[in-house]
Amino acid sequence: MMNIVLVGFMGTGKTVVGRRLAERLNMIFVDLDSLIEEKLKLSVNEIFERFGERFFREVERGIVSQISNRRGLVVATGGGVVLDSRNVATLKKLGCMIHLFARPDVILERTRDTHHRPLLETGDRKIRIEHLLNERRPFYTQAHCEIDTSDLDVEDVAGKIIRYLQESCHGPRTG
Ligand code: S3P
Repeated sequence: MMNIVLVGFMGTGKTVVGRRLAERLNMIFVDLDSLIEEKLKLSVNEIFERFGERFFREVERGIVSQISNRRGLVVATGGGVVLDSRNVATLKKLGCMIHLFARPDVILERTRDTHHRPLLETGDRKIRIEHLLNERRPFYTQAHCEIDTSDLDVEDVAGKIIRYLQESCHGPRTG
């Protein structure tokens, strides 16, 4: 069975949607940030604090290549995974890459009370989100399909992805 790979900015729903998709399609859910945290036995915040972003990206790339032979996965990636073109190539080979996106104000609202994303902990969060989104847009748009999650709930987004996969040539069978 093919894999489903969710990419997109922080707060666009990759993890919650991925978990729900895996349940509905009877696939295995994998969250790359959790794999990194398990491997190093440290939180993402701690990894950035102690070793810096560059090191985090190296570990992230290692994890991406580790899953590259697996099947039947729904993969929720970290928001910055697409910054490395090697990750994009590996993940696109792995399966269907879906970009979840949302308006900056929605991302701000969804991340308002969270403190586990080191890249959002510096300066004015709204400005930071807008800046990073602008910088990253061309990386995210390499995905096979894009879904605006701004006004949708988890079930709606999962449903849209399932319909997209059924309509594209190699869609999964449901129920
Ligand atoms: C990051 C996003 C985070 C996590 C790390 C870096 C990013 O994952 O990988 O904090 O660069 O956008 P989420 O997108 O799951 O929050």
